Amino acid sequence: MCGIIGSVGRDGETLDVLVHGLSKLEYRGYDSAGVALTGDGLQTRKCAGEIDDLRAELEHEPPAGVVGIGHTRWSTHGPPTDENAHPHQDCTGDVAVVHNGIIENYQSLRDELVAAGHTFESDTDTEVVPHLIEDALADGAGPEAAFRSAISKLEGSYAVAAVVDGTEAIFAARNDSPLVLGIDDDAYYLASDVPAFRDHTDRVVYLEDGEFATLRADEWIVSDGTGETVEKAVNTVDWDPEETGKSGYEHFMLKEIHEQPRALRQCLRGRVDELAGEVDIGDLADLSPTGVQFVACGTSYHAALYGAQLLREAGIPAQAFLASEYATATPPIGDALVVGVTQSGETADTLSALREARRRGARTLAVTNVVGSTAARECDHVLYIRAGPEIGVAATKTFVSQLAALNLLALGVTNCPDARETIAALRELPSDTQAILDDSTAESVAEQYADASAYFFIGREHQYPVALEGALKLKEITYKHAEGFAGGELKHGPLALVTDDTPVFAVVTGDDATATKLVGNVKEVEARDAPVVAVTDGQSDVERYADEVLRIPETHPRAAAVLANVQLQLVAYHTAARLGRSIDKPRNLAKSVTVE
Ligand code: F6R
Repeated sequence: MCGIIGSVGRDGETLDVLVHGLSKLEYRGYDSAGVALTGDGLQTRKCAGEIDDLRAELEHEPPAGVVGIGHTRWSTHGPPTDENAHPHQDCTGDVAVVHNGIIENYQSLRDELVAAGHTFESDTDTEVVPHLIEDALADGAGPEAAFRSAISKLEGSYAVAAVVDGTEAIFAARNDSPLVLGIDDDAYYLASDVPAFRDHTDRVVYLEDGEFATLRADEWIVSDGTGETVEKAVNTVDWDPEETGKSGYEHFMLKEIHEQPRALRQCLRGRVDELAGEVDIGDLADLSPTGVQFVACGTSYHAALYGAQLLREAGIPAQAFLASEYATATPPIGDALVVGVTQSGETADTLSALREARRRGARTLAVTNVVGSTAARECDHVLYIRAGPEIGVAATKTFVSQLAALNLLALGVTNCPDARETIAALRELPSDTQAILDDSTAESVAEQYADASAYFFIGREHQYPVALEGALKLKEITYKHAEGFAGGELKHGPLALVTDDTPVFAVVTGDDATATKLVGNVKEVEARDAPVVAVTDGQSDVERYADEVLRIPETHPRAAAVLANVQLQLVAYHTAARLGRSIDKPRNLAKSVTVE
């Protein structure tokens, strides 16, 4: 979703810092971009399209200044046009503002401002902010007080940054939308996400809801709503700038798929003791939940479905809910622990669900990738999945790390009957994943079926969320119709869609009764002439009915889900590559969905 970058103190380099920062935020998804610099007058440049379009725009007359803010916009109010791109300005052109989130009361503010004589240039909710600042300045307030006055009138979610002509400072505020400061020896940065300035510094300060920040060349100050200074911890991020580069891969998604053995190793490091048959998840082991409700969206919801199954297998009642539904139609929680699964830790729907759970007195746990994220800070407990930064919009390594982390959680808080076998399988996951990456024939399968009219994915038990995730991954990056089903559901409707032009990917692992039932489902689609691609460890006889086989190593069914998913990620990736899609930034999608 929208991204913010700000820079103070990099004289002569401000524009480069901003544009570089914007390029690092591209992964969040956007449809227009812009910058505003001040120092030698306030200059703003913005346009619809990509960062390269903005670069072209900047070449004519590059703006200069010692202070600047930049933005990538993902449309919520009004289409992606030059006018709707940020920064937005007031009537005098002395104020420029960038904003992430949604200002819920913008229409009434706008009506009042228009009635008072202000002229609006865009359809956005954001544009009310520079006009509110303009009014306060006209009433005699200084720039910082004018900014605070404007912010005090906003309702909704926002990360806002503003610059005012003649003032070498950035004023910023956050509520429900992430904002982080970067602290360097001779310069300060501000961004919605650390990668935007990680090339310059690894020291960061996370703003909390309700906090303001003022950055000047010689100081950074965080204050609360009353103007009192807030003492903030300076944290150090523990990942390299190179981790946000492509390292020779054509796409971030492919790089991140190949990083999965390392991501899994990081997730499991120091947390599993194979000899003792135990996991170590620190204090979380004391949670002893009598019930668990997972809340999550998209791919993370598929991880949550899987996590709920693991807990049920260990005798704990557990359910996964779509966070957007949970937030408004909250089920009875009782004593349940409410677990938010969210790689970014910033997904608005998941945060709303967690907040509702907290409001009702529930204990909450965030399973997340991002240290210092809102979910991590707001929940009572955190389990980090340690996948490292994920840039591609389609979640890959964070999903497998979520699955691994949820195994740790289930093992750590329950008396899992087959803990020893599961732990042994988890230990093998990195090398088993590497074996798939080395030998997968997913590319040739993808090429063979790249022109199919639709794709179906089926699985049961642990492999059911894998089927759902296989379909989501394929649809989001290929723009082709794909659906995942529980194998048993096929004959209750979806079978009507199955033809010789709809490949069916069947995830069949093991050779127990569940596998036998899924092989039965495979026979149903085979009888309707659908091409069958079996993702299998070879233990059942599914290969007899399959046109293509994607092999995974034999392992515990819980770990098999992780491995089968890797094969399906590769199918989605190679299909999208074959179709020439925008793999890392699929149309209409954003990496971090910070609006409900
Ligand atoms: C799909 C994808 C999304 C996210 C969803 C939740 O590839 O990435 O479906 O899983 O938007 O995001 P997080 O996990 O950040 O809460």
